[in-house]
Amino acid sequence: MAVFAKNCPHIEFEVVDINKERIRAWNSKDLSNLPVFEPGLSEIIKIVRDRNLIFSTDLNNSIRKADMIFISVNTPIKKTGLGAGETSDLRWVESCARQISEIAENHTIVVEKSTLPVKTAQTIKDILLSSESGIKTKSFSVLSNPEFLAEGTAISDLEAPDRVLIGGDDKHAMKALNDIYLNWIPQEKLIFTNLWSSELSKLTANAFLAQRISSINSISAICEVTGADVNEVANAIGKDSRIGSKFLQSGPGFGGSCFKKDILNLVYLSKYFGLNEVANYWRSVVEINTWQQTRVYEVIVKKLYGNLANKKIAILGFAFKKNTNDTRESPSIAICKNLLNEGAFLSIHDVKVTKEIIENTLFESPSTLDKNVYLNKSNLEFQPNFYDAIKNSDAVVLLTEWEVYKNIDWECVSKNVRKPFWIFDTRSLIKDKNIHNLGLNIWQLGNGSLN
Ligand code: UDX
Repeated sequence: MAVFAKNCPHIEFEVVDINKERIRAWNSKDLSNLPVFEPGLSEIIKIVRDRNLIFSTDLNNSIRKADMIFISVNTPIKKTGLGAGETSDLRWVESCARQISEIAENHTIVVEKSTLPVKTAQTIKDILLSSESGIKTKSFSVLSNPEFLAEGTAISDLEAPDRVLIGGDDKHAMKALNDIYLNWIPQEKLIFTNLWSSELSKLTANAFLAQRISSINSISAICEVTGADVNEVANAIGKDSRIGSKFLQSGPGFGGSCFKKDILNLVYLSKYFGLNEVANYWRSVVEINTWQQTRVYEVIVKKLYGNLANKKIAILGFAFKKNTNDTRESPSIAICKNLLNEGAFLSIHDVKVTKEIIENTLFESPSTLDKNVYLNKSNLEFQPNFYDAIKNSDAVVLLTEWEVYKNIDWECVSKNVRKPFWIFDTRSLIKDKNIHNLGLNIWQLGNGSLN
């Protein structure tokens, strides 16, 4: 909405939430500490806040006044009941629809912005229309307008998207949303579809992107045993314009709030319609991803002689990728839990993720991966300086591709670590050919010529 407000100074935008603490933080004078870290965001907030973008907890007032409402709430995977572990928990979407149906006045266009299972628009429509039938003074149109931005590049993705999808069956409502985007996006990038194509396109886009990562990660394992180098293979296949070079970076597995959830929604949808082969096909993308995380952990244990008790391991990076403080589904979670379970002492550094978030993520959120893992809180520390994290350790594991990790002074490191020392580089960050001469061992994911 900050990007919308910047590009549409003639339109008033109100971001409303029931969480007072969050809204207070978005209104804070200290722009360096907004609830979401995203490069370029605070600069835009500085321009538009209290100009044509306000943050408020006054839901009823905002809903009443609005011509258009974007539902942008959390849709995590359902934890219990029918579809648990696969389909999305829609309680927040439903409660938004109910509140809108009760409070809205005149005609309101309701836009699904949250990523949702296919056919959710029908649920929203049903709820809205049930109120419409009783009171003739209000009416609704429902549109699907999925968001394709990636964290860390959200601002540039929103300023210049590859495409914007507007799904619906009410041409007037679709044009109204189209006209907002036209303030900064050319018409040829604005695509009209029916509601269901729009919802399904979002899940499919994420499934295809995740599938590429699982594909290259599966090849990384073959590279390690054959002497090939996964980066050379990725470069070679990426030059084929039909394949393309993006999203071929092998690593410890994809994380983030979307990929796993969206694929599992696709799996659930396929099973629901009896398409079991389709469900199995997409489920395997998630399975390879889980396997890749386990594989990294197993390599670490094996290289450290099968024993991590009384060993200190430095973990560099906890966010699921660089330029974000988001840890949702980060591969670091499963890898760290498994290392703690082996009795290792972990010294963790991240550029943006705080000590509190790391502790909450590791110790409070239930794990879907490792039900029998034993975690000892006293075997964990957070270090704001990564050299301190590595100091006196037996190994370092690079898990997030933060730029600063590319320039580590390994000569300096080599003087203050326990030997034999291992570097586990899961993101191909280290280009230094001198590592072995410093008396350090290195394992790089997918690099068969090294291992
Ligand atoms: C993703 C989609 O890219 C975006 O279009 C959608 O709107 C939301 O989900 P996001 O989760 O923010 O965005 O990050 P993305 O850059 O896609 O990365 C997801 C994960 O894949 C990260 O853990 C990243 O490290 C990993 N990844 C990405 C790889 O391992 N290799 C790659 O080549 C690219």
